[in-house]
Amino acid sequence: MSKPLPLILDCDPGIDDFIAILMILAAPERFNLLGITVTGGNVSLNYTAQNALKACELVGRPDIKVYAGCPEPILRELQIEDEVYGETGLKGVDLPKPTMALQRSHAVDFLIDTLMTSPQKVTLATTAPLTNVAIALVREPRILDHIEEIVTMGGSMTLGNITPAAEYNFYADPEAAHILYTCGKKITTVGLDVTHQIVTSLEWFSRLDALDNPVAHTLATMLRAFYEYDMKKFGLAGGALHDPCVIGYLLNPALFNGKDVHIEIDTSFGIGRGRSIIDWWHKRGLPANSHVFSEVNVEGFFDLLTDLLARYGNRQHILTNEENT
Ligand code: RIB
Ligand code: CA
Repeated sequence: MSKPLPLILDCDPGIDDFIAILMILAAPERFNLLGITVTGGNVSLNYTAQNALKACELVGRPDIKVYAGCPEPILRELQIEDEVYGETGLKGVDLPKPTMALQRSHAVDFLIDTLMTSPQKVTLATTAPLTNVAIALVREPRILDHIEEIVTMGGSMTLGNITPAAEYNFYADPEAAHILYTCGKKITTVGLDVTHQIVTSLEWFSRLDALDNPVAHTLATMLRAFYEYDMKKFGLAGGALHDPCVIGYLLNPALFNGKDVHIEIDTSFGIGRGRSIIDWWHKRGLPANSHVFSEVNVEGFFDLLTDLLARYGNRQHILTNEENT
């Protein structure tokens, strides 16, 4: 068995980021989570930071280091998604107020300091607007030499989800996305083209219920409450699990299929704001700056996710409302 992968997660919990954290912490033999950095996004930074702490405490990991970062995009005004995620970002459940504290350093300082001093190259998973990562890249471009892979949830070859043209993470901070896709490193991109295939179902909820463990129960409660919105708005059979796809790829890349292409981010202020222009047929003849996925093994993904969550069934220290009062 190879050594655990040094990993940093940049996120904006929101429920799908929350699940991504639980996936990482369910597989300590696969991931050495160096830290979680948080930005404003789905909801404001104070909530996204608290939600990251709540995820760590839910699974008994108060040792995980969580760093608050940029509250706002580089240039644009933050557009939160509280209609989707609820005011707190975790609509549907009221988890105990976290007892663990945020780290004192700013997320961008943590990213730069950790990457520049890590003895091994670090994998960077991003599931949020890219403000923290972009600012770190501008401040210290040399961090790229210390990054094994950047895997980003964002973009879409077709329809957007926040506007007809754009996916939310790229829409929220188009300048940050532009900085990432022009940094010179090929970005592994997990866009709506695959995440909209990973949709919850009543059948899967019943699989979660059958796990009979507090973490799976909490998630099923959250997801049922959360995804009514997606089902009504997009006519989906359930809710799309966007950010968990990033961790699913890191755990089993064979579940995903795509190709190297060029992506340009629309940084205009018009209707195309934040659109990811993905040159799938190589029409522009530009060098690939991304590996973009178009296919995912849906059944294999849900088997992986369910197996990970089942691991929490034999954990002793799971904090729930009852135990924490
Ligand atoms: O468009 C989906 C992305 O936007 C996900 O990362 C979700 O958490 C929201 O941030
Ligand atoms: Ca997110």
